Amino acid sequence: MNPPRPQSAPVTRRALSSKAERFTESVIREMTRLAIRYGAVNLAQGFPDFPAPAEIKRAAQEAIAADINQYAITWGAKRFRDAIAENFQRTQGLAPDPETEITVCCGSTEAMISSMMAIINPGDEVVVFEPFYENYGPDAILSGATPRFVKLRPPDWTFDPAELAAAFGPATKALILNTPNNPTGRVFDRAELECIRDLCVRWNTFAITDEIYEHMVYDGARHISLATIEGMRERTLTVNALSKTYSVTGWRVGWVIAPPDVTAAIRKVHDFLTVGAAAPLQEAGAVALRFPLDYYQTLAREYVARRDRMMGILASAGFRCFKPRGAYYIMTDISAFGFPDDVAFAQYLVKDIGVAAVPGSSFYSDSADGRTHLRFTFCKTEKTFQAAAERLAKLRTAP
Ligand SMILES: Cc1ncc(COP(=O)(O)O)c(C=O)c1O
Repeated sequence: MNPPRPQSAPVTRRALSSKAERFTESVIREMTRLAIRYGAVNLAQGFPDFPAPAEIKRAAQEAIAADINQYAITWGAKRFRDAIAENFQRTQGLAPDPETEITVCCGSTEAMISSMMAIINPGDEVVVFEPFYENYGPDAILSGATPRFVKLRPPDWTFDPAELAAAFGPATKALILNTPNNPTGRVFDRAELECIRDLCVRWNTFAITDEIYEHMVYDGARHISLATIEGMRERTLTVNALSKTYSVTGWRVGWVIAPPDVTAAIRKVHDFLTVGAAAPLQEAGAVALRFPLDYYQTLAREYVARRDRMMGILASAGFRCFKPRGAYYIMTDISAFGFPDDVAFAQYLVKDIGVAAVPGSSFYSDSADGRTHLRFTFCKTEKTFQAAAERLAKLRTAP
């Protein structure tokens, strides 16, 4: 016989982290879960549904077979850091020192939060363009920074230099940039980057730049790394990853390139957060980063065809599309459908039409600013486009 169970005392909940209470779960990842639940075509989360390159997969398999299965050096396997440095030199003409200026992390997600935790003190502010990739909000809260938002305005998603200047002040510690930009597709040009530089120099701030879509640029747009702008190298933290360029979002391998003193702080934060990224996948990354130029040209060519296919599908279904020149998302205007807001429309789309997209409000600090927008990704196969086209054809615009 089981012993009698002790009478349980009423549980008084202890307070949870007030930081964790200040943000919600990711809307993007939530839309993926809804897509699975309703059997919807997932055009919400940015992961390719086509295979990763055979060479990168083979390199990972070989690394595991060769027993590269224990911890790599916490800030990254030497071969991989050397490949990152060579790659940055080849693409942007800058040669970071792999021994003192590179930290390998678990995806660009960890590279971003480790970078912020390495530089932020209580009272510090960060300037963030909005709409913004939704992680930057929680990153600011977790690291203790107060965000100052500056609008990118449609249709071109450019910023007003006066508004940007007004966001800077003595408390500004860093500006966060994402180019090519998610969700708008904006590829920041040299004049914009120089405007950012002038303010960073004037207020002596850092810049953290998320360049994960560097190779997805279309219609003659050119990706310029902020660190290459004169006066920026010594104050820029450049975040990147294998995730998008090599279609391996599940591998969780990224990095940050930063000046030596900043790197020393990032490495400490990174070590105690995660110890390190997967060792055999770093070996595969070293192979991938040395792919010939042709790989990147084909990648961009295939993505521009996917963009045009998706633009066509969305336009025929009644969406007003903002044509992206970079990254792999299309921001749309949904006013024509007559729904009260973006969330209501996204719910209807996923449940009744069978297509998942991301409500625009998840990219804004004030949800009202995103209520007429929905974001679709186009990192998908023709089969997925076909299914989305059939389903979206059932949509009706408001009379
Ligand atoms: C701008 C941006 N940064 C970072 C990430 C996440 O990158 P990772 O998978 O390397 O953590 C994404 C993913 O969608 C993104 O769009």
